Amino acid sequence: MATTRKIGIIGDGNVGSALGHGLRRAGHEVRAVGKDKTAVREMAGWAEIVVLAVPFGAIDQVVKEAGDALAGKTLVDVTNPLNPDMSLAVGFTTSGAEELQRKVPDAKVVKAFNTVFAQHMNTGRLWNQSLTAFVAGDDSSAKASVLELAREIGFDAVDAGPLKNARLLEPLAHLNIQLGYVLKLGTQIGFKFLRS
Ligand SMILES: NC(=O)c1ccc[n+]([C@@H]2O[C@H](COP(=O)([O-])OP(=O)(O)OC[C@H]3O[C@@H](n4cnc5c(N)ncnc54)[C@H](OP(=O)(O)O)[C@@H]3O)[C@@H](O)[C@H]2O)c1
Repeated sequence: MATTRKIGIIGDGNVGSALGHGLRRAGHEVRAVGKDKTAVREMAGWAEIVVLAVPFGAIDQVVKEAGDALAGKTLVDVTNPLNPDMSLAVGFTTSGAEELQRKVPDAKVVKAFNTVFAQHMNTGRLWNQSLTAFVAGDDSSAKASVLELAREIGFDAVDAGPLKNARLLEPLAHLNIQLGYVLKLGTQIGFKFLRS
């Protein structure tokens, strides 16, 4: 591991706990917080990198709680903008990640891990294969850090371009959910991007 990072995770559910395990195993210092305003604010101040792993509907509240503690921080957006009926909440002409960036203009939002089921986020692997972690963001240094974290967990990390490409990654996650739950393939599935 190149550098030990201070990583804060907001949301201590399926995604937050799995990524937390993977990142701790990779040697990073990780703090995870749930619905506790003071803890969210303190953790956002402490962390170098903040992972957002809350339901889409909780984002506004979390952003308000963290406030300017997110300024200058890499903010990893793992959320998927889904309505309760599981349809895409933001359509195709924007993305949850871009809307998040507008809410926290001083943070460096990076979309990552959202196309993977939480069951595989601890290892980045399914059976004997590494799954692809697509990583999109506008700040090259923040994106490079997240690509490195993904590789350290065990993913095959792929630079998926600017944050605008979250418009493609969020529907891809929607497809994953459709395949897993609606078409009943289960959660032992995942995307693997082949390249030379
Ligand atoms: N599950 C997956 O396979 C998967 C894969 C990719 C992306 N995602 C996305 O990742 C996000 C988290 O999914 P999940 O499956 O981990 O959900 P989850 O298991 O329901 O966990 C969400 C966590 O966020 C916490 N939370 C809710 N409101 C909060 C707030 N205002 N402040 C701080 N914490 C708050 C919840 O606390 P309480 O338990 O107290 O409510 C819970 O610990 C979602 O946006 C989802 O779309 C999920």
